[in-house]
Amino acid sequence: MTARKADRILIVDDEELVAKVLEIHLEESGYQADWASSGEDCLNRIAAQPYSLVLLDIWMPRMSGVEVLEQIRKSHQDVSVIMMSGHGSESMAVTCMKTGAVDYVTKPFDLTDVLQRVEQALMNRTTLLEKQRLEREKDDFVSMLSHDMKNPLTAVIGSIDIMREGRLGPVNVEQVEYLQSAIDSCNEVVSMIDNLLDIYRFEAGHMTLAIQPCDPENILASLVTRFSLLAGREGLRLSADLDRNLPEISVDRSAFLRTMGNLLGNALKFSPEGGEITLSCHPLARETAMEMAIPAYAASQSEQMFSEHARFVLLSVRDTGNGIPLEDQERIFERFVQSQRGNKNYGGAGLGLAYCKLTVESFGGAIWVVSSPGQGSEFFILLPAVEEGVSDGE
Ligand SMILES: Nc1ncnc2c1ncn2[C@@H]1O[C@H](COP(=O)(O)OP(=O)(O)O)[C@@H](O)[C@H]1O
Ligand SMILES: [Mg+2]
Repeated sequence: MTARKADRILIVDDEELVAKVLEIHLEESGYQADWASSGEDCLNRIAAQPYSLVLLDIWMPRMSGVEVLEQIRKSHQDVSVIMMSGHGSESMAVTCMKTGAVDYVTKPFDLTDVLQRVEQALMNRTTLLEKQRLEREKDDFVSMLSHDMKNPLTAVIGSIDIMREGRLGPVNVEQVEYLQSAIDSCNEVVSMIDNLLDIYRFEAGHMTLAIQPCDPENILASLVTRFSLLAGREGLRLSADLDRNLPEISVDRSAFLRTMGNLLGNALKFSPEGGEITLSCHPLARETAMEMAIPAYAASQSEQMFSEHARFVLLSVRDTGNGIPLEDQERIFERFVQSQRGNKNYGGAGLGLAYCKLTVESFGGAIWVVSSPGQGSEFFILLPAVEEGVSDGE
């Protein structure tokens, strides 16, 4: 006998003989096994010390195995339970699995079969616990990112800003420029952290969006003001081509702002001095929208939209930058993917467009890029228009 397994197993059966036979076989296989003669005894024992697995008889006096299973599931989440029954019944097996058992064996047992099932259940449990541990680590990392990195960075930005404004003493033009560029870099890190946090929230299903009808012009106007300043500092020109009669769109205002901010930020980052960036927004009827050359990776989203809506809003951010090779155009919407062009290191983490895609699709829209190297890029976002906001009289 080799004590190769640290797992402790509890056999719960009112028939002592059955329990003892099992106990001997489990111990011979290297497990530590104990016996509980009733449901109450079982619950007391697992409250007193940790067990990896419970082999639980269904038919017992006073408290049935299913009742015990319910109690276990309420308070001891990481114990695996295999049910044992004298009469095989499919519906009972289903009930047990639904209540949270991992397996079901019928008496009289084939002992080799029981041991195999025990081993499998314990392996699955180890895998699950490891997965849960990694999830917890990821949670800790994400909260570390938001609190321990983002908060101090925000404080750094605030302090530099006070200096930049000359409130701590006179600063010359060159110093203002350096301080501003320090602020810009900090802001870029903050937005990288924000993108990462939100991508994580989307993937964990924790993302909460307040989607409601919004006037796109109103949101875009504030972006134009902010990014015109940034563009000016980089020697670029930003112009806006916003239609006067835009229908409302259903979006989460701040997520939409960050999405458009990511696209504008990219256009600034990837355009050489002297470049032009155009932000445009137009209403679009289904017939016109359907004529657009939408790449395959965005087509399923857009086809669904065309089947459900008649009016759309098309947003675009166009630049005169370096462009993106065709083979990278789909991949850049994945997280951590950056296109390999030239030798210049632009920084960034490759998260912005992944965030944009998750957000736009959660608004029921589609996002894609049209670009060729040397010719600049144009990122498109197509969103359904809010029907009631559109009247013929507009
Ligand atoms: N306007 C653009 N012009 C050229 N390349 C772009 C543009 N926008 C995005 N890209 C390419 O897509 C990649 C991914 O963009 P993004 O997800 O925003 O990450 P990041 O900006 O951190 O690199 C960029 O690294 C770049 O290679
Ligand atoms: Mg980016």
